[in-house]
Amino acid sequence: MKAVYCTAYGSPEVLKMVDLPKPTPQANELLIRIHATAVNSGDVRIRKADPWAVRLFFGFSKPKKPILGGVFSGEVVEIGTAVTRFKVGDAVFGSTGMSFGAYAEFKAIKETAALSLKPESVSHTEAAIIPFGAMTALHFIRKAGIQPGQKVLIYGASGAVGSAAVQLAKSFGAEVTAVCSASNADLMKQIGADSVINYQKEKLSVNNTQYDLIYEAVNKLSFSQSIKHLKKGGVLILGAAGLPQMLRAGFARMSGRKVLTGVIKESAEGMNLIKDLIDDGKYQPVLDRTYTLNQIASAHAYVDLGHKKGNVGIQVTAD
Ligand SMILES: NC(=O)c1ccc[n+]([C@@H]2O[C@H](COP(=O)([O-])OP(=O)(O)OC[C@H]3O[C@@H](n4cnc5c(N)ncnc54)[C@H](OP(=O)(O)O)[C@@H]3O)[C@@H](O)[C@H]2O)c1
Repeated sequence: MKAVYCTAYGSPEVLKMVDLPKPTPQANELLIRIHATAVNSGDVRIRKADPWAVRLFFGFSKPKKPILGGVFSGEVVEIGTAVTRFKVGDAVFGSTGMSFGAYAEFKAIKETAALSLKPESVSHTEAAIIPFGAMTALHFIRKAGIQPGQKVLIYGASGAVGSAAVQLAKSFGAEVTAVCSASNADLMKQIGADSVINYQKEKLSVNNTQYDLIYEAVNKLSFSQSIKHLKKGGVLILGAAGLPQMLRAGFARMSGRKVLTGVIKESAEGMNLIKDLIDDGKYQPVLDRTYTLNQIASAHAYVDLGHKKGNVGIQVTAD
């Protein structure tokens, strides 16, 4: 099968196409023929070893798991002897989690992983781009105990995680304010934001609005600004926090606000919930650009710029 190896930490040129044997599924695994994957901020962070601590977890001099790619949409082509949830021919989409390996034509994955049947209304590329943002935003929004009618601010709303957070907060009945640059304002309205703030020009709150929940998705808003606009008893999600922000989280708890950080957990239950929202027309894929697997270095170079609108899809086979 064709796959893409991350041969070293560095610029997009470290990504090289290789030929490998097709994986064989274990008893509890499915073999997926991958039709599409995506280039997410998570892949880019590993490719660049950013932050440096990536090397402690993923390999000191180069990634120990050289095939990146954490999401996929495709077809089940083989099943292990103990598999019960899926059958050959099922179209599925999901996340490979920390095993990565989706920059390839095939991937063997446990049937209990974070995957679900693919909604029929979306293409494989549209399905593949969904799990990264959706699983991340769902984890934090549920942990925050979001309630209908709450005022929610999403900062960095036009990225993969932000655009998922806007849609999920709306589906939980919240009143959502999206913060992004002017060029993304129409997109935010289209995915359901009640109001939009241009971070380049406007203040964070009109008439001193205080929010019940602030989801800081891109680590660009200062901690003091976040707290200033958060109600007492409110929740601040620092979804992209580094160590300094995590350390300050303790201080915020003392000031009567709760701060959520950390690494997310994905699940099949979460993926099924996202599938239902898509089927009900309450969640849509936000696809910026699509590249082919051969063009993956160009896709990484685009994501490196830090201003993608939602997600970047990778077509592995024709959709
Ligand atoms: N905790 C976890 O387990 C976990 C899981 C997944 C992801 N993450 C983290 O979450 C973060 C977001 O991921 P992502 O995939 O959503 O990123 P992304 O898609 O690459 O974010 C791109 C977006 O960021 C916006 N942006 C850039 N500068 C901004 C600024 N100064 N103010 C407001 N928005 C700005 C851009 O909008 P404009 O073009 O309009 O500026 C663009 O739409 C990453 O740091 C990732 O590592 C954490």
